Amino acid sequence: MSLIFFLMLVIEAATDKLCPLRASIDVLEGEYFFLCYFESMQEHFQEEVYTINWYKENAGKQQPIKETHRIVSQKNLLEFWPAELSDSGNYSVTYSSGKQNFTVQKWTLNVLERNKSSCFNKNHLTTEIKNAGTGHSLKCSDLSVNENDSIAWFKDCKNYKNETERELDFKTLAVEHSGIYTCKILIHHEGKTYYSTNTIKLVVKEDAPEATTLEIVGRNEEIQTEIGKEEVLNCTGFLGYCMQEDASLYWLINQTFPEKCTGIPEREPSICEEESKTLQLGNKVYVTRLLRIKKVTDEDMHHNFTCVFQMDENTQIKIVKLKKGKIQDMPEHIFTTAMVLAVLFPCVAVAVMFFCVMFRIELVLFYRNLCRRDDTAGDGKEYDAFVSYLKDCASPTEEEREFALKILPMVLEKHFGYKLCIFERDVCPGGAVFDDIHSFIDKSRRLIIILSQNYVSDRAIYELESGLHKALVERKTKIILIEYMPISDYSFLPESLSLLPSKRVVKWKKDNSLPVNSRFWKNLRYLMPAKPTKINTKGHYNILDLGSEGTKPWTEDCDFNAPL
Ligand SMILES: *[C@@H]1O[C@H](CO)[C@@H](O)[C@H](O)[C@H]1NC(C)=O
Repeated sequence: MSLIFFLMLVIEAATDKLCPLRASIDVLEGEYFFLCYFESMQEHFQEEVYTINWYKENAGKQQPIKETHRIVSQKNLLEFWPAELSDSGNYSVTYSSGKQNFTVQKWTLNVLERNKSSCFNKNHLTTEIKNAGTGHSLKCSDLSVNENDSIAWFKDCKNYKNETERELDFKTLAVEHSGIYTCKILIHHEGKTYYSTNTIKLVVKEDAPEATTLEIVGRNEEIQTEIGKEEVLNCTGFLGYCMQEDASLYWLINQTFPEKCTGIPEREPSICEEESKTLQLGNKVYVTRLLRIKKVTDEDMHHNFTCVFQMDENTQIKIVKLKKGKIQDMPEHIFTTAMVLAVLFPCVAVAVMFFCVMFRIELVLFYRNLCRRDDTAGDGKEYDAFVSYLKDCASPTEEEREFALKILPMVLEKHFGYKLCIFERDVCPGGAVFDDIHSFIDKSRRLIIILSQNYVSDRAIYELESGLHKALVERKTKIILIEYMPISDYSFLPESLSLLPSKRVVKWKKDNSLPVNSRFWKNLRYLMPAKPTKINTKGHYNILDLGSEGTKPWTEDCDFNAPL
């Protein structure tokens, strides 16, 4: 029930200005004053007999007010002729029929002491702040006034222009109009004159608020983002040092208004604008508004998100653009690249190793050539290699002899600048053969043994054995085996040969091995000591030309197998 009363009070308040709805009332000592409630309330009790009772709270108890000359209850009013300091307190009014009791309204009355030296009390005034140049009027009071009551206006307690109207009009306010205006209503009652005052402090400010204080916080910007990400664009405007009701802040997407946010997640548009909010930081007032983008799309990257801040003539804008971001967290492509590299690197390493192994010989030769490396200088040896070609007279083969005495020296000596000692060619018969062999092997850096099935004679074996002995035991001479013909059975060879690492064997592949850039020569050169050469670009030797090449022609007389 009391709620209904309250609602009715509010509705009535809008229509009945003569009875202001106020809960706490300040009043000056010695002035006429009244409390009132809305009469229409009584309609509810029309069928019933009721009484109206005014109460004042005294020591926590509601005490009925005793009417006197000074305090008069009249219709819906409780009048004070005049109010006194002792009247301060809580008041209420109730309706009561036989069965029910309703409190209609309550007030707190606060009677202020009159300032003896002034026409007003500075705790009992309202302040109105206005801008110069505007029109304004000051209202005296909402108190109900009879026609024969008179009004006087005072400015700073001096009679103001003999003004007697209820409203004081200013067509154009000026700073000089600032002051404290007091309006005094004189009321005649039972042969006496009472009065009621109302004081307004008027402050007239020099200028309209500076429109230039309007300012968007931050500049145009590009926000790095990613497709599918949520973005919240924040636009904040600086309003100045007090609220400006007429300022507006809003977002535009390519010149069109975005939808408003609903606050319901399922029904939220993909891009929506929130309500603007006012913030106060210290004495500065800001207004801020958010634009929510649920999931950034490719299209959004091309939009202009414009924040507009507007007041009167002054407009400021800020444009925000979205851009595909660079590195945030760990982007997928970086991760992919890293993974690919991680997988690729071992592959590349393996490939490089494979390449090095495959082309080891080429690389070494290339390197030797590049650095003009020379392993032969200063070791006191005369020959680069001692070639052991020992034909068995019993079964001589032309091919083998031609290889040992013509092709081998042709290429190694003429083309690659090595110096060979071929016993049959260089150390012709005469002298102690075995001693010669020993001393020649000693003077050579390598011992080239041309292996063949024919390499079987005891004497040949001796030469081979002594060379092997030097190489394997004394480690003075390195051995190179040339397998001239495919050998299926190594058992005829000295046992110590089998100790040699297989990579020191070079296989002759007939015509395939003839060109100087063939694998055979590369392998052979690889095993030979490094020695700078002038590379002859001529890639192929015609064996038929060899006779005229200036090598010492071999002689059939140089016969190792001759008995000693
Ligand atoms: C928007 O930006 C302003 C100024 O930078 C800041 O004070 C405010 O907290 C921001 N609002 C949100 C919701 O992030």
